[in-house]
Amino acid sequence: MRPSSLSTLSAFIFGSISALAACTSNTTDTAGLQQLIHDGGAGYKLELCAGQVYEISEQLNYTALNQEISTEGYPTDDTRATLKMVGFNKTTLVMAQDAGLSGAKLLNVQLNGNRLDSEDIYTAGGGNIEFGGQNQNQTIEYVKSYDPRGWSCLHLAEGTFNCVNITVQNNDIGPCGRDYFQNWADGISLSCADSLVQNNQIVDATDGGIVIFGAPSSVIRNNTISVKTRTMLGGINMVDVLPWLPEGNFSNTLVEGNTIHGGFATEMGDAEHGPNNASAIVKIGIAVGPDVWFSDGRYGTNKSTGAIIKDNIFSGAFAFGMGVSSAKDFTISNNSFVGNTSFIGSYGPNCTTETKTPHEPVPLLLEPTSVTNLNLTLPPDSPYQFVNGTALGLTCFMPPANDQNAWPYGDGFNSGPSTTSDGGATSASTSSPASSGSSGSGQSSDAFRSIEIGGKVILESTILGLLVGLKFVF
Ligand SMILES: *[C@@H]1O[C@H](CO)[C@@H](O)[C@H](O)[C@H]1NC(C)=O
Ligand SMILES: *[C@@H]1O[C@H](CO)[C@@H](O)[C@H](O)[C@H]1NC(C)=O
Ligand SMILES: *[C@@H]1O[C@H](CO)[C@@H](O)[C@H](O)[C@H]1NC(C)=O
Ligand SMILES: *[C@@H]1O[C@H](CO)[C@@H](O)[C@H](O)[C@H]1NC(C)=O
Ligand SMILES: *[C@@H]1O[C@H](CO)[C@@H](O)[C@H](O)[C@H]1NC(C)=O
Ligand SMILES: *[C@@H]1O[C@H](CO)[C@@H](O)[C@H](O)[C@H]1NC(C)=O
Ligand SMILES: *[C@@H]1O[C@H](CO)[C@@H](O)[C@H](O)[C@H]1NC(C)=O
Ligand SMILES: *[C@@H]1O[C@H](CO)[C@@H](O)[C@H](O)[C@H]1NC(C)=O
Ligand SMILES: *[C@@H]1O[C@H](CO)[C@@H](O)[C@H](O)[C@H]1NC(C)=O
Ligand SMILES: *[C@@H]1O[C@H](CO)[C@@H](O)[C@H](O)[C@H]1NC(C)=O
Ligand SMILES: *[C@@H]1O[C@H](CO)[C@@H](O)[C@H](O)[C@H]1NC(C)=O
Ligand SMILES: *[C@@H]1O[C@H](CO)[C@@H](O)[C@H](O)[C@H]1NC(C)=O
Repeated sequence: MRPSSLSTLSAFIFGSISALAACTSNTTDTAGLQQLIHDGGAGYKLELCAGQVYEISEQLNYTALNQEISTEGYPTDDTRATLKMVGFNKTTLVMAQDAGLSGAKLLNVQLNGNRLDSEDIYTAGGGNIEFGGQNQNQTIEYVKSYDPRGWSCLHLAEGTFNCVNITVQNNDIGPCGRDYFQNWADGISLSCADSLVQNNQIVDATDGGIVIFGAPSSVIRNNTISVKTRTMLGGINMVDVLPWLPEGNFSNTLVEGNTIHGGFATEMGDAEHGPNNASAIVKIGIAVGPDVWFSDGRYGTNKSTGAIIKDNIFSGAFAFGMGVSSAKDFTISNNSFVGNTSFIGSYGPNCTTETKTPHEPVPLLLEPTSVTNLNLTLPPDSPYQFVNGTALGLTCFMPPANDQNAWPYGDGFNSGPSTTSDGGATSASTSSPASSGSSGSGQSSDAFRSIEIGGKVILESTILGLLVGLKFVF
């Protein structure tokens, strides 16, 4: 291309950009923003101005196909425009669930739910973000969502079971909720099928970091879930057997390569453990099956069914790394522990008792009598094996007091060569699926250690690097 036409072209491009790029400033009130979205129609882009805070009194509704709300220039840092909820008794900032809102996009903005420290959760409303519903092809990317007044930082609803293909990636989520009774909120609540939730950072959600409501055929991968200032009940939850039918439909849902960090010591303690000033743990790193969560047996004999959980990584302080009960047709393989870990917590007032007393904290807990057809394998050098025991209502455990030397040291904090029993890789933030103490070939799937549990056990032989697979048939 000749220079003259190049400069003509760039003049045209820059001319167009400056002509089209006037962002909508925060002098426009909520009704005005809604009017722009409404009048803009299909494909409209509401461009907010970098660095500005928009006080939102009422949820902003997407109103047509392929609409976008974003910050001008698509920044990914704190200059992203902020939508801040100020409406009386309102919880949701953006809503795109009615029919006809396929292709909705929420990009490079911040959503401040504005739940004050002094406030209890608002039980009536939805999450900060309400997407999904009767739609396809929506995207939520480079968004920060925090301090929701309602139950979730980001909810992707099932609609009339026709929601498919939401992409949720590169978002910063949290804090969400408080860690006192029933004031919890989720990080990401996924109930849309065939969706992709990846590369998100979730810090200080208090209910589930990522809660998967079946969401058949979805992929949840490479997310990092951690606690800093409050306890999280579950890192990744696969305990909700509703709303997708048949109950417990997690068919082909894939949870892989996620990193879950329980709490780490915030101060020096003894040689191996220190206190945590927020008393923060993740109670259950990955929770599988309704009974792991709900101690009242409200879902009867329904089981979470049909998912794959592999190559996930745990580090830090948990009550349980994984808890599995009332599950069926799950493949759970090559999940590993890296860096320093501890499994702590004491029986709380709401733990079931007598014959239903849950097992004390352990890395991997399985209730063999409640599961069917699980394919359970661990990395060859896994420091831990599944322990059999009652896995009922495991969120009842209480973290130790904040002055106890119970938390392991994490990345960059007194994390020299470790003497802990798990072999102690020093980095707690590696994103490669290597198991602690292994030769670093954590991805290699040709040598797994078998778990011996199960009623009728079908043991597949292992020859020349074939897997040892176990099939439990009850
Ligand atoms: C607009 O955003 C700026 C920058 O955050 C803020 O100082 C100002 O109060 C906001 N104005 C309105 C009307 O919300
Ligand atoms: C969005 O829709 C809801 C439900 O129809 C309505 O109550 C609300 O006022 C709408 N938001 C705005 C800003 O008009
Ligand atoms: C808050 O909203 C909910 C649901 O819209 C309603 O049931 C409740 O009465 C409202 N509370 C107040 C204090 O207005
Ligand atoms: C979703 O995207 C696919 C692939 O681009 C397209 O075929 C389909 O029509 C889209 N769905 C809707 C409802 O727009
Ligand atoms: C899913 O949605 C994205 C847009 O977010 C689109 O690019 C892609 O083609 C869709 N995939 C299918 C299978 O519809
Ligand atoms: C995993 O997520 C992190 C962000 O948390 C990102 O930097 C990295 O590129 C992702 N890895 C892959 C393979 O997408
Ligand atoms: C689970 O739900 C999906 C999506 O609705 C459906 O295609 C599939 O058949 C269901 N699985 C079972 C086992 O019924
Ligand atoms: C807790 O410890 C962390 C890490 O040392 C520190 O950044 C934070 O300020 C402390 N919080 C309080 C409330 O002391
Ligand atoms: C499965 O759960 C549903 C919904 O809670 C309940 O109605 C049904 O009775 C349960 N089925 C069994 C066999 O426990
Ligand atoms: C135990 O449950 C009761 C309600 O049944 C609740 O009020 C209390 O806060 C719970 N205790 C803990 C430690 O969660
Ligand atoms: C767990 O329980 C199963 C079934 O009762 C049994 O076959 C298996 O040996 C037990 N495993 C361990 C490690 O105790
Ligand atoms: C068990 O899972 C492993 C690892 O994903 C897989 O290779 C193997 O074929 C499975 N075994 C059975 C019996 O399904």
